[in-house]
Amino acid sequence: RVLAGRDRDLAGRHVVVSAGGTREAIDPVRFIGNRSSGLQGLALARTALARGAEVTLLAANVALPDPPGAKVVRVESALELREAVLAAAETADAVVMAAAVADFRPAATSDSKIKKTSGEPEPIRLVQNPDILAELGERRRTGRLPGATVLVGFAAETDDVLANGAAKLARKGCDLLVVNQVGAGKAFGTPDNAATILSTDAPPLEIPLGPKEGLADTVWDLVSTRLS
Ligand code: CTP
Ligand code: CA
Repeated sequence: RVLAGRDRDLAGRHVVVSAGGTREAIDPVRFIGNRSSGLQGLALARTALARGAEVTLLAANVALPDPPGAKVVRVESALELREAVLAAAETADAVVMAAAVADFRPAATSDSKIKKTSGEPEPIRLVQNPDILAELGERRRTGRLPGATVLVGFAAETDDVLANGAAKLARKGCDLLVVNQVGAGKAFGTPDNAATILSTDAPPLEIPLGPKEGLADTVWDLVSTRLS
């Protein structure tokens, strides 16, 4: 706890956090998924609750206990997450998109389990999912979300982390983008995270490797400053 007055600085605020990773159904038993555990999203929810916020946690396939005190909405796919985010955002002071959202989904989901055939398997055709964060940015820009709503994205990048992150921040129309470097054993499923927080109005902030709670508290520091 570095900053004075951090305790309860989110009292009276409603924050929405998405966590985990979406699953895009191929058939009743199979899906396209990703390696997001939900740990960073849960750390964001817990720290926001500790600071007095009302927290809506949109949990995409998170196999972890619910944080006591949060309103938890479970979703599976990107389309379900989009509905939940847009609904919760209507009363939100901040939306933090920590969930890993699948960029693509199968164009069709088979109602019955796909069986092995003797020949080559059928290819699975993919279509693009809506970009939820970009949609929030666009809604805010066009006055369909309060202008004061703070929007935060997370991005996992493998190469050219800063340049990719800066372009993404602009493209999404969000205020803050937490950029993680991913790769062998980094970030996914681990209790620690290192990141660079890009912001529309400040130089990049380096967060050294440390507990995901620490990173979460820094995100809330920046959100809280923007809200006050
Ligand atoms: N995101 C989203 N909707 C999507 C994809 C991503 O809201 N369909 C959000 C994520 O939750 C995250 C941010 O956008 O907060 C950045 O996600 P990322 O996958 O890094 O961005 P993309 O625009 O999908 O770019 P890339 O091609 O690098 O995957
Ligand atoms: Ca993506």
